[in-house]
Amino acid sequence: MGPASASQHERFRFADRAALAEKIRALPADIPLSDDVGVLLEPLAIAGHELPNRFVVQPMEGRDAGADGGPGPLTMRRYERYAAGGSGLIWFEATAVVPAGRAHPAQLHLHRANVRAFSRLVSATRAAARAVFGEHHKLMLILQLTHSGRQARPDGTRCPIIAQRNAILDPVTGVSADHALVTDEELDQLQQAYVNAAGLAAEAGFDGVDIKACHGYLVSELLAAFTRGDSRYGGTFENRARFLLEVVRKIRAAIPSLVVTSRFSAHDGIPHPYGFGADAAEPPGEQLDEPCALARALRDLGCPLLNVSIGNPYYNPHYGRPFDKPLAGAKAPSEHPLMGIARLLRVTAAIQQAVPEIPVVGTGYSWLRQFIPQVGAAAVMAGQAALIGLGRAAFAYPDCVKDLATRGAFDPQRTCIGCSGCSQIMRDGGSAGCIVHDREVYAAQYKHGRRRAAQVDSESGPR
Ligand SMILES: Cc1cc2nc3c(=O)[nH]c(=O)nc-3n(C[C@H](O)[C@H](O)[C@H](O)COP(=O)(O)O)c2cc1C
Repeated sequence: MGPASASQHERFRFADRAALAEKIRALPADIPLSDDVGVLLEPLAIAGHELPNRFVVQPMEGRDAGADGGPGPLTMRRYERYAAGGSGLIWFEATAVVPAGRAHPAQLHLHRANVRAFSRLVSATRAAARAVFGEHHKLMLILQLTHSGRQARPDGTRCPIIAQRNAILDPVTGVSADHALVTDEELDQLQQAYVNAAGLAAEAGFDGVDIKACHGYLVSELLAAFTRGDSRYGGTFENRARFLLEVVRKIRAAIPSLVVTSRFSAHDGIPHPYGFGADAAEPPGEQLDEPCALARALRDLGCPLLNVSIGNPYYNPHYGRPFDKPLAGAKAPSEHPLMGIARLLRVTAAIQQAVPEIPVVGTGYSWLRQFIPQVGAAAVMAGQAALIGLGRAAFAYPDCVKDLATRGAFDPQRTCIGCSGCSQIMRDGGSAGCIVHDREVYAAQYKHGRRRAAQVDSESGPR
């Protein structure tokens, strides 16, 4: 259980490191800072790959796939920009393994007929890094495989596939009381879809695949399926972890050369029995025995790295992505963003310490702006994470790693400002990116989406 976090939400307002340190002390928030950031530029060996540094571009959906689920022009542009920016590992966004698992029609979906387009994406990404950093800078590329579960909207309308009744999430996600659960037989079959997609990812040239188990999507929901009775996939920890572990085991057996990993939510921030990693005695606190056991099981199956997240973007978005400004219509949380960052660090550290032999990727740093390296380096040096993942910061400022290497710092004028503009575009149905620092491309997406949302509101009348 971590400390209570009841301080007031406020926007980022730190002119220098001393001001940030003072706020961290005053809250207090358990966030380390280091002026020596050199460790972030040190290489790291993972499963025979030598990462050039400790930065990871986190998976960030762009909602810009072509009609066949293959990468569109904006997808290509995004990954080329990341690669030219210097991060050693690029974790490609949520990519559906079956058509019904898409969260929207413009989500990437890997299948036999478009594998060559994914292969071109991989080649273009590697070439973009090579053009800037030369042959020795070897990128590691991991593709996130997903089924959107209760967030599935393959044709734009809700088609939820749920693993359990959830008194907290059903109302938020528009699931009716009589909605059927996905059956054990359907889950058995879905495992093969993951294995097939992993084979295609290897064929396309990815170094690894991630079985996405975070943010409340299907595999994440299964981890929390305490109330799914009379099922091989519900109730006990062994049953709830079965799908993820079996998929990992099967892919490892089928394609031994492929890195297999998982980005999992170690703490949903949703009370027991509806959230994973939840303290039944003290909701909504953390109880990390099961998440740590899951990490050890994944390590024992041969996952050479893990990626930890927390929270559910549809229920408690401030858990996973601390921000200045919430989505339109949402209230700012009462919690100070630094307390959210402290929670992310604390949970990630618990997982990293449970599996010290393999690197764990930490997340949720973007709100820290130009101080990301100071906190990230301190976390790495303290053994709280081995790799620092950047999501919104990568949308906003893909060159940040190159700047750290060449200028010794992130440019404060280019960092993510936590405005939620990228998330808002996603919610409004557009292609996501940074509306501040990449405004030539994304400001129009944002405006268009907001206009469309206002129109839908006015057409549907008072609610
Ligand atoms: C627009 C948007 C798209 C995202 N897409 C994904 C995704 O495809 N897969 C995933 O695991 N997380 C996704 N995330 C979550 C991010 O990877 C990351 O965990 C989150 O933004 C917090 O990290 P940050 O503070 O560096 O932004 C997305 C977040 C945003 C804002």
